[in-house]
Amino acid sequence: MTARGATLADAQPEQIVVRACREDDLPQLEWFGAFAHHRQIIYDAFVLQRAGKVVMLVADDAGFPVGQAWLDFRRSARWEAPKVWAVRVMPALQGRGIGAKLMSGLESIAWERGHNRLMLGVEKANAPACHFYERLGWRVIGEWREEYCYLTPAGITQTVSVDQWVFVKNLPPARGLIPTRQ
Ligand SMILES: CC(C)(COP(=O)(O)OP(=O)(O)OC[C@H]1O[C@@H](n2cnc3c(N)ncnc32)[C@H](O)[C@@H]1OP(=O)(O)O)[C@@H](O)C(=O)NCCC(=O)NCCS
Repeated sequence: MTARGATLADAQPEQIVVRACREDDLPQLEWFGAFAHHRQIIYDAFVLQRAGKVVMLVADDAGFPVGQAWLDFRRSARWEAPKVWAVRVMPALQGRGIGAKLMSGLESIAWERGHNRLMLGVEKANAPACHFYERLGWRVIGEWREEYCYLTPAGITQTVSVDQWVFVKNLPPARGLIPTRQ
């Protein structure tokens, strides 16, 4: 059910609004428990958003975040351009253009902040996601394995190893703005 009382299957792409994540979205981003184990990741990203280092976009269907896509502006030796991550749409609503709408929103924000290139990693086993990004103009530039850790609500540290393709996208000019950074 959504905030409107309709079922998720009723949601139409045209009624979805892409907007920045608010504090009151955080519990709902756990999607009724499916991502409860990511509570700390979600909260930490929100703290970084407040500091201007991360942007968390949500696809809002009548007040409920049915999709999300985040952009991390922090740099590292490997991630030399802002990194897209945590892109997902609720299973019942996939394939209706919501993911593409979220990605377009991130690209606009990156461009407005002066960036003309984005990066992301996709697990090699996730062929549908690779297809999704390729269709949106992303291309593979390499591969690498990475590990990340997070603390579950039960206080257990989880370590996840990711064997991924690394994608980049050079952003097309938008809204007549001129990027000032790579
Ligand atoms: C990948 C994902 C974010 C795409 O969002 P979406 O709203 O389903 O995508 P859109 O409707 O904008 O685009 C659909 C395209 O994505 C591809 N796609 C990827 N996964 C899909 C899925 N589960 N269902 C439908 N289409 C999917 C389709 O091939 C389609 O391309 P096509 O039109 O050429 O067939 C979404 O399917 C998802 O949340 N998947 C699970 C989580 C995930 O893998 N995230 C990416 C991590 S890197």
